[in-house]
Amino acid sequence: MPTKTSQKKAIGRSVNALQKPLQPSEELAAVIGSRRSSRGQAVSKIWDYIRSHNLQNPENHREILADDKLRKVFGKDKVTPYTLARRFSMLDHLTTGRIGWNIVTGYLNSAAKGMGVARQQEHDTRYEIAEEYMQIMYKLWEGSWEDGAVVRDRAQRVFARPEKVHRIRQHGAYFQLEAMHLCEPSPQRTPLLYQAGASSRGRQFAATHAECVFINGPSKQVIAPIVADIRRRAAGAGRNPTEILIFNMMTVVTAATSEAARAKLDDYRSYASEEGALVLMSGWTGVDFSTYGFDEPIRHSRQEAQTSALEAFTIADPDRVWTVREIAKHAAIGGRGPVVVGSSEEIAEELIAWVDETDVDGFNLAYAVMPETFADFVDLVVPELQKRGRYKLDYAPGTLREKLYGPGRARLGADHPVARFRGVDHRPGSR
Ligand SMILES: Cc1cc2nc3c(=O)[nH]c(=O)nc-3n(C[C@H](O)[C@H](O)[C@H](O)COP(=O)(O)O)c2cc1C
Repeated sequence: MPTKTSQKKAIGRSVNALQKPLQPSEELAAVIGSRRSSRGQAVSKIWDYIRSHNLQNPENHREILADDKLRKVFGKDKVTPYTLARRFSMLDHLTTGRIGWNIVTGYLNSAAKGMGVARQQEHDTRYEIAEEYMQIMYKLWEGSWEDGAVVRDRAQRVFARPEKVHRIRQHGAYFQLEAMHLCEPSPQRTPLLYQAGASSRGRQFAATHAECVFINGPSKQVIAPIVADIRRRAAGAGRNPTEILIFNMMTVVTAATSEAARAKLDDYRSYASEEGALVLMSGWTGVDFSTYGFDEPIRHSRQEAQTSALEAFTIADPDRVWTVREIAKHAAIGGRGPVVVGSSEEIAEELIAWVDETDVDGFNLAYAVMPETFADFVDLVVPELQKRGRYKLDYAPGTLREKLYGPGRARLGADHPVARFRGVDHRPGSR
């Protein structure tokens, strides 16, 4: 384990390297794995970078908590809807209804390759596949077992009434299957649905399916129109737009005083690698930043990675032009989201201003240092928000969905697309 000082030196070297002209595209245009550079060469230097800078980016298998990725669909032996629906139902049973699912369409070529697929699907096709995937999940969770199917009649030795358990069918563009859901309905049936991905196609997907949406952008000017657009699209889809809960990614750096908080942020920045941040940003946006001059403004172009990532730093706010240098500095702490720094009072005021001015419902807190960033937030900021009546005082009872929407809301409402899959005729040829 290197000491803090030796780490600082190593990272200092890489930041100094930024003062020199950027390396050839092979050096920086990487994403985790390989992407084609503008010269058409396969680029896969991120691992060199990670190894040479002694960085690690362990990615735990988060699906087991509350997060799975539709990227697993894109191949032959991926998590099929049948398997995934069962897994979520099991987790919902085990947790008495505390499971949520963050639905994203993965963007990484490396992930596709890792799953045996030659290359990632193009951006909008990924969402088409996701649409069909969701249909099957709804059929399994909501249509396969009728309410009242499970009787648990010990005397008669009957667990479930077979006439109320149905085989669902899908004959679509991407999936062909016939199956009965293997779990009896869980407390929420469908887990609480999150979505992250704010391209135009992604917002439409969110407005159709998501109850909670993670968005990401560097400023209120970028965030407010995204929030308004998601709510407008939700209303267009026949849903209550105020019930879509939208969370912006946010990094909070706080301490006992404003000065101490700023000193803490300076300290964090002294350890950060701007070169590493650019590598990450290249992966997220799909743009090879090493082909830019350091003080060149970033231009918008059509990419196949996270469309919304590039939009946030180009066309989303026409009054703000970002250079490569600025993006490197911004992303080094806080990634694509904003960083707010100050005393607990200043932070509370700033977060409230974000909610009031952008209409977001809350924040997806990112961290600069784990667990310090979260501990500081809990110890210092939560009490300030509570004092101002902007943070809960107790945990609400019930399932995850009820904690957010109130008692009696364990299951999705009639204005959600799942409703179409309840109580339908599943006999062969019917759908
Ligand atoms: C909270 C959060 C979690 C995310 N998780 C993943 C993930 O697990 N896998 C992934 O490929 N992208 C993830 N993303 C990134 C993008 O949202 C995702 O790749 C999306 O497909 C980009 O779509 P867009 O072009 O519509 O913005 C996440 C983003 C956020 C804000």
